[in-house]
Amino acid sequence: MNIQFDERNLHARMVGETNGLSDAEIAKAQAGALKALAAVQSASEQKTYGFAHLPFQTDLIKSIVDYAKKVEGSYNTVCVVGIGGSALGAWALDCGIHGPHPVQSKSHPRLVILDNVDPMFTEAALASMNPKKTLVVGIAKSGSTAETMGTFLILQDWLRESLGKKTNRKIAIVTSEGRGDLKVLATKEKYETFHLPENVGGRFSVLSAVGLLPAALIGLDIRKLCKGAAAMTHIAWEKDLKMNIPLRAAMLHHLIWTVKKKTIQVAFPYSNHLWGAAFWFRQLWAESLGKAKDRKGNEVHVGQTPVAALGTTDQHSQVQLYMEGPNDKVYSFWAVDKFSAKGKIPEGKTGLESFDYLAGQNLAKLIDVERRATAAALTENGRPNCTYSVGKVDEEHLGAFLQMMEFQTAFMGELLNINAFDQEGVELGKKFTFGLMGRKGSEEYKARFDAYEKKRKG
Ligand code: PA5
Repeated sequence: MNIQFDERNLHARMVGETNGLSDAEIAKAQAGALKALAAVQSASEQKTYGFAHLPFQTDLIKSIVDYAKKVEGSYNTVCVVGIGGSALGAWALDCGIHGPHPVQSKSHPRLVILDNVDPMFTEAALASMNPKKTLVVGIAKSGSTAETMGTFLILQDWLRESLGKKTNRKIAIVTSEGRGDLKVLATKEKYETFHLPENVGGRFSVLSAVGLLPAALIGLDIRKLCKGAAAMTHIAWEKDLKMNIPLRAAMLHHLIWTVKKKTIQVAFPYSNHLWGAAFWFRQLWAESLGKAKDRKGNEVHVGQTPVAALGTTDQHSQVQLYMEGPNDKVYSFWAVDKFSAKGKIPEGKTGLESFDYLAGQNLAKLIDVERRATAAALTENGRPNCTYSVGKVDEEHLGAFLQMMEFQTAFMGELLNINAFDQEGVELGKKFTFGLMGRKGSEEYKARFDAYEKKRKG
């Protein structure tokens, strides 16, 4: 497993003192970083934070592999019904290994994710699937998210129309063990059920059954995913900052953000296969670090806005802004050392300069050169940037990369002295939705919403 972090373009000597970090600033930050490490380690040992333990859950991994073997061949589509942390991990994994477009391949089942409740999107997805060949995986930690419950009922009905009593063979559920109506329904209907630990939040759950079950069902080697994540977990406990990539990255990002005021981070993968991971990261970074209060209860309203951009595509869409617009961003390039295909450009010459210098070269080289060229151009313009690189995009590297980002986020939470593991800000909108959709017990939120509407109307 080979994952590297190149921070040189965050330094003052590359981007100037106003925008880059001095050796003294970095040296001074190291004690705080080690304190953050100790805090995350202690909370993990006490099982307050659960994500670090996930790659080592051999019994769970075995039970998922066994279930995937049992149902193998009975479906050609896996339809995940879930949203946010209950969907983005599965997308990051599928996109990483199979690519960004959900295709009906002969070699592996297709993954369809029904996260949003756009009825046109849901109708079109249903029309593209055969109920006899679809395995529905309903995922919700709370067991009550409106989008997931609504879509799940539609899917359950859709299966029942063609399968009748055999419907339960085509449904699996991932939810909390001791709470939520999804668990109650799953028990009543005898749906195959996997649980996620209470100490693992949605956006940190990709290596629990939330991500591993869909991954195994579409043919990914989840043992390798966990092997890579386990290796990264050992790295994340290293006290040597040179070795501990997520801690070093968190420390430098913290400085660039809070001292050099780069309040936006652009996650810039140079591979379509990492596009899903960029969206997964966007949620992880935004929901974990965007907080009103610090641990002492002081109002702080912190947050660094994550933006997902795709290289090279967004060079032709975003880079003008990145080069010449406000210098309020830090750029995190995500590079792949070795692509599994080269994309050889034919040798034949055309006599035309725009083609001939490319003849005989390959797309793998072109995408790598374009990334390095963009990094150099940003650096020349005093725009701090750094590069994470993965040896290749396989299960082991993907598991390690996602686990690295979770550790980096957890360390950043400690550096900011906030709770990176709650999401109070999301809860209020959910409660208003319950109130407006007529959920029992949510009348108070309906009344609050009505008062707001009245005020709006003047
Ligand atoms: O990270 C989180 O906790 C959230 O984004 C949740 O994953 C999201 O709100 C969905 O929640 P649930 O899994 O309960 O449906």
